[in-house]
Amino acid sequence: MRQTIVAGNWKMNASKESVNTLVLGILSGMADVESKVIVCAPFPYLSQAEALVTHSQLHVGAQNLNISASGAFTGEVSAGMIKDFGVGYVIVGHSERRSLYGETDAIVAEKVQIALDNGLTPLFCIGELLEERESGNTEIVVSRQINAVIDLVGIEAFKNIIVAYEPVWAIGTGVTATPQQAQDTHAFIRSLLAVHDSDIAQSTPILYGGSMNPENAEELIGCEDIDGGLIGGASLKADDFLRICKAG
Ligand code: 13P
Repeated sequence: MRQTIVAGNWKMNASKESVNTLVLGILSGMADVESKVIVCAPFPYLSQAEALVTHSQLHVGAQNLNISASGAFTGEVSAGMIKDFGVGYVIVGHSERRSLYGETDAIVAEKVQIALDNGLTPLFCIGELLEERESGNTEIVVSRQINAVIDLVGIEAFKNIIVAYEPVWAIGTGVTATPQQAQDTHAFIRSLLAVHDSDIAQSTPILYGGSMNPENAEELIGCEDIDGGLIGGASLKADDFLRICKAG
């Protein structure tokens, strides 16, 4: 049985005050949450968030990392620095990083490897654009994205990877994939892993992301191959986020 995982991606939305309010709000409702819950904060707030979650069942993640360990990379943050703050998770290859900052499949694969090398669990994001879905190329796109990572890190590494399927057309749009669309693609992603190792395919968590909210979370997470959610907008309000956490 795969444990349900619900992760909040705050993106570039935070202040010292909002982080306090949001994390304390989530913590106050965690008693009856059985899912694993992660909140992914912007870099300046990782330490604050990590301090707030000490001794709780809430986990903190970062949203990106650089592939180098240190050096002349102005404005960048390394996996070692993230780990230094006690943070255990990092989002890798989010579609916004791919489209706005030119992250290719090869770069994303390297980032997954560097995260793993540093003991961080990557939340490895994949997903197709609207035109790719409409032209019937969803499976080709997600295959390319997954295989780039399998080729570099090997299938065994998926014991420490969380996959997040986020159809780009569903991110921040209010248009959610139907449970059937999401389930079909999740099952396909699992079949890609199973080509290499069926046990690992069965145990790898595959989260859905893209306009998941308290109203649709239960039906989506209820699908056989959907193991939780990666939540953007609805992760910024403690009550909404907790409702999703309890849907699992
Ligand atoms: P929304 O939930 O706002 O659509 O964002 C999803 C997402 O990009 C999570 O990484």
